[in-house]
Amino acid sequence: MKPLIIANWKCNPPAPKGAKLLFGQVKKGMKKIKNTEVVICPPFVYIPFFISQSDRSNLALGAQDVFWKEGPFTGEVSGKMLKSLGCKYVIVGHSERRVLGETNETINKKIKSCFNAKLVPIFCVGESLEERKAGKAPLIIKNQIKEGLRGISRKAVGNLIIAYEPIWAIGTGQFCDFDEAMTMGLLIRKNLADIYNQKVAKNIRVIYGGSVKADNVLGYIKEANMDGVLAGGASMDGREFIALLGNF
Ligand code: PGA
Repeated sequence: MKPLIIANWKCNPPAPKGAKLLFGQVKKGMKKIKNTEVVICPPFVYIPFFISQSDRSNLALGAQDVFWKEGPFTGEVSGKMLKSLGCKYVIVGHSERRVLGETNETINKKIKSCFNAKLVPIFCVGESLEERKAGKAPLIIKNQIKEGLRGISRKAVGNLIIAYEPIWAIGTGQFCDFDEAMTMGLLIRKNLADIYNQKVAKNIRVIYGGSVKADNVLGYIKEANMDGVLAGGASMDGREFIALLGNF
C-alpha cells in the first residue's frame, strides 16, 4: 500500500492568500509524485477553496475536527457538513485539542459521527513526557484506544486510521526514534487485536506524527514500519513538504 502522508496545517496560514499559495505549491509539486496518498487538512474555512482541485486519485481533503451533532451548537461543524462539502478524512483527538478539554468520551462520539457520515477518522493517540518518564505510556495508549473506540463495530473500525503522536515530539523537533515508534506501533496493533482480532488489527492503518521532516520520513515508513505519517510544521512549508513527498 502507498504510504499515507497527512498534512495538518493547524491554525495556519493566517489569510486565504497564503493558504491558496501553499495548496498551489503542493498541487504543483505532486505532479511528479505518484507513490503516495496525500491528505491535506486545512482550517475549516479554507476547505471550500480546494475541494474542486483535489482529485480523486492521490490528493484528498480532511478537516481538523468535527462535532457529533447538528442543531443548537454554536461554533461547531458536523460530519454531514464536511462530507457534503467533499471532505474524506477528519483528524480526531489531536493532543492540541485534548489540552483544550477534549476527552476520550467526546473523541469516541466524534469517531462514531465520522463513521455515520462516511468520513475516515484519523484518531490521534499519544502520551506526554511526564507519562512516558513514569513508564505509563503503554497504559495511556491502551486507555485512549479502549475508550476512544468503545462501541465501534469490527466492520466500522476497518476504515479507521490511528496516528501515534507522542506529545513530547509534536512541534518540538525532538522526534521519536524509529525503534521506539515501531514498538509503539506494535503496541497499538496489540491493543486493537485485543479489542477486535488479529485480522482487523492488521488491516487498520497506523501512522506516526511528531516532528516529521523530509529527512526523517523514510525511517518511519521503512524502519518503524508505519503506514504513513502526519506532518504539522513540515506541511506548512511548501518546499519542505514537497521534499518530504519526494522520498517516495
Ligand atoms: P509537527 O506536528 O509535525 O509540527 O510536530 C505534528 C502534529 O501536530 O500532528
